[in-house]
Amino acid sequence: MNEPVPHDKSLDNSLALLREGYLFINNRVEKYQSDLFEARLLGQKVICMSGEEAAKVFYDPERFQRKGAAPKRVQKSLFGENAIQTMDGEAHLHRKLLFMSLMTPPHQKRLAELAMEQWQDAVRKWESSEKVVLFDEAEQILCRIACDWAGVPLKDSEVKERAQDFSAMVDAFGAVGPRHWKGRHARTRAEEWIEEIIDEVRAKKLKVAEGTALHEMAFYRKPDGNKLDSRMAAIELINVLRPIVAIATFITFTALALHEHPACKEKLQTNDETYLEMFVQEVRRYYPFGPFLGARVRQDFTWHNGEFKKGMLVLLDMYGTNHDPRLWDKPNEFKPKRFKEWTGNLFDFIPQGGGDPTKGHRCPGEGITIEIMKATLDFLVNKITFEVPKQDLSYSLVKMPTLPESGFVMKNISRK
Ligand code: HEM
Repeated sequence: MNEPVPHDKSLDNSLALLREGYLFINNRVEKYQSDLFEARLLGQKVICMSGEEAAKVFYDPERFQRKGAAPKRVQKSLFGENAIQTMDGEAHLHRKLLFMSLMTPPHQKRLAELAMEQWQDAVRKWESSEKVVLFDEAEQILCRIACDWAGVPLKDSEVKERAQDFSAMVDAFGAVGPRHWKGRHARTRAEEWIEEIIDEVRAKKLKVAEGTALHEMAFYRKPDGNKLDSRMAAIELINVLRPIVAIATFITFTALALHEHPACKEKLQTNDETYLEMFVQEVRRYYPFGPFLGARVRQDFTWHNGEFKKGMLVLLDMYGTNHDPRLWDKPNEFKPKRFKEWTGNLFDFIPQGGGDPTKGHRCPGEGITIEIMKATLDFLVNKITFEVPKQDLSYSLVKMPTLPESGFVMKNISRK
């Protein structure tokens, strides 16, 4: 491989990124037949890369750091400022252990049970409703179970607004203009709300069980022995609550997949746990959610003739890697069965990042995501019947994050 790294000719690709969305990196990887290319985004030189080998390089902590990678606009909407996503080294690993301790199989099981209870409860109301928008329902149910599980008090009257605030933070990450500002305002409201709760717990005005996310965030001690300041503890607790609510996007795509592939229903009705999991994995692979990730080069190195210079921004294509024809047979077909033979590794299937979550930045919440999706899929297939009226179920690959236009409308719902 002595080919030079392709340079995308445009003066600046920022507009192309807005126009091409999820396909921006993949379009160029295909055009240049190269795992990497150089581009300019927002006035800086960037290397974009895709595929399993690229993911291995991207998750090498000797080569990359997160400090300075996430733009302030993303921190002020999606992540929270100076939160775990922007940390490196020992301090990051220490904090990551705290997150991992909240996402063990018993926590996953508890959340999946809570989700099933809430769905069963909601259906009573749905039976007398003319129609229901699944995304809106999922957002609220997930907000309820996230707060209940985490130990965060939440009044019935608050659920809708809090849920919408969590979603607005996610919706803001790829947006400019009003959608972005909505996310920022939502974050400020949520941080103030959760910070007050952290303060009450620390002052012993609010009792919360040991082992819950609220308790653990409030009393976590950094390697230097100090607690997080109360705003930071709030930000990190939101880093657990918000993504649980974000599972509403995958749930909506799960319902769409069921609708588009009715033949799968029969297999899902057989109570075959393995098939349930295969279906959910294929939803996470096939449908778009996270587009790409960013990191900065820690020290100069060369890979595939690309000159990675210290401080350079590098983007890893998550969506493209999950549709890479070298890894996935007929990647643009929805085939849950592919996961039967899938031997997999930490770098080829990366809807929630790659690598070992205890050693790097990979999402700690994959187990929770999968279990909640499985419980919901079981509910949709085996616990209720419903009709899908005519509606716009298309989703954009340009808007990031995306969702079926209608949010998935259901009618004539009844319990089985
Ligand atoms: C809705 C489905 C989800 C998607 C698509 C998703 C996606 C991601 C992605 C792409 C990353 C970044 C990986 C990286 O930087 O290398 C991430 C990180 C993270 N996710 Fe998730 N996630 C989801 C659900 C969850 C859940 C349910 C939780 C917790 C309950 C969670 C908590 C986190 C945290 C704390 C991080 C930061 C980890 C770090 O920087 O070390 N996520 N997620």
